[in-house]
Amino acid sequence: MRRIPVLQIGLGGVGQALVEQVLHFNERLGGRYGFRFAYIGLADSQGTLVADDRIPPATLLQALATKRAGGSLSDVPEGGPLNDWRNLLTPSPCLLIDVTAQGGAEDALVAAVEQGHRVVLANKKPLCADLSTFRALTSEGRTRYEATVGAGLPIISTLRSLLETGDVIRRIEGCFSGTLGFLMTQLESGVAFSEAVRDARQRGWTEPDPRDDLSGTDVARKALILARTSGFSFELADVSVESLSSAALADLSVDQFMDQISSLDDRYREQWAAVMDQGQTLRYIAEVTPERLNVGLASVAPDTAIGSLRGPDNLVVWHTQRYAERPLSVRGPGAGTEVTASGVLNDMLLFAREWSPR
Ligand SMILES: NC(=O)c1ccc[n+]([C@@H]2O[C@H](COP(=O)([O-])OP(=O)(O)OC[C@H]3O[C@@H](n4cnc5c(N)ncnc54)[C@H](OP(=O)(O)O)[C@@H]3O)[C@@H](O)[C@H]2O)c1
Repeated sequence: MRRIPVLQIGLGGVGQALVEQVLHFNERLGGRYGFRFAYIGLADSQGTLVADDRIPPATLLQALATKRAGGSLSDVPEGGPLNDWRNLLTPSPCLLIDVTAQGGAEDALVAAVEQGHRVVLANKKPLCADLSTFRALTSEGRTRYEATVGAGLPIISTLRSLLETGDVIRRIEGCFSGTLGFLMTQLESGVAFSEAVRDARQRGWTEPDPRDDLSGTDVARKALILARTSGFSFELADVSVESLSSAALADLSVDQFMDQISSLDDRYREQWAAVMDQGQTLRYIAEVTPERLNVGLASVAPDTAIGSLRGPDNLVVWHTQRYAERPLSVRGPGAGTEVTASGVLNDMLLFAREWSPR
């Protein structure tokens, strides 16, 4: 049985679901595939858990229980204090999984792939640093990142197979944010903007600061990842982004922002009423072409694929040389810890099948 060493950075919602799925894979399926994943390290923002050969399943379960009770890996008896994950990389290659939401680690990730490690990301930020970093990370297939766009939906793999079989991408469009999708359908049914944002926040569907979603930056990052994967040379600053928040609310604390968010209600009530009078509706749409990246509100007919989207579902539509008359599309839930973790696990399986750590 082959052993695939794994170092996982991040043990939040997605990271916890991933550990559970890896344990399940090892127990039920590993024998069938001829390999098993062996956690050699886990890190959260406060602590670490490490082992030379593998962290035993019982210790992993204890770590999950500790995190769910609000603790840190440093509280697990076998755990240790915060230790920069770079110090946990072994000389021999491993799978390095980034399921944090942190930026700033891209140089270390590039160094890791250059040392022979393989990287799997749910974290979009390393792919949205400058273009040369993206290329260094992803060249020769050394980094996989299915879960960064559409969570567990097969978006990156579909795009790759189009490109690898010689199709030409003319335009990619769609709705890439479950949070903003939910807001759009709430506004369409007459709910006030502030109420819709509060509802999404209570369901845990927004970032802790909802302005991170409302700013459009998260969608802009996904658009940039699709563009770069398509071979288009853009930087994040090239994305034209429409924010759903306002400059006047930008410097407030999160609590102050939530207190004052109703100041945006009239703007959206009027905007929606005007669009619906024309028999249209609004969606927060991303558009990727070789020439431009746009992210923002657009009015669409309700009976189109985009206009008929409901709730937090995502939709990605490819207009290509082959799919010219009727575009290719993938639609479904584009957020959630379980489906995101399954996208990461799928990337891990692909690496494990094709790559043998020396
Ligand atoms: N949730 C989704 O539906 C979804 C969908 C697609 C993609 N994603 C992406 O997946 C990633 C993880 O999402 P999530 O919802 O699991 O986020 P989360 O719950 O906020 O978890 C982030 C984890 O990263 C850890 N962390 C932060 N700084 C760290 C550091 N310097 N070293 C090691 N660990 C560190 C945190 O530690 P503590 O536990 O100590 O705070 C936490 O465990 C994000 O990049 C997100 O954008 C999420």
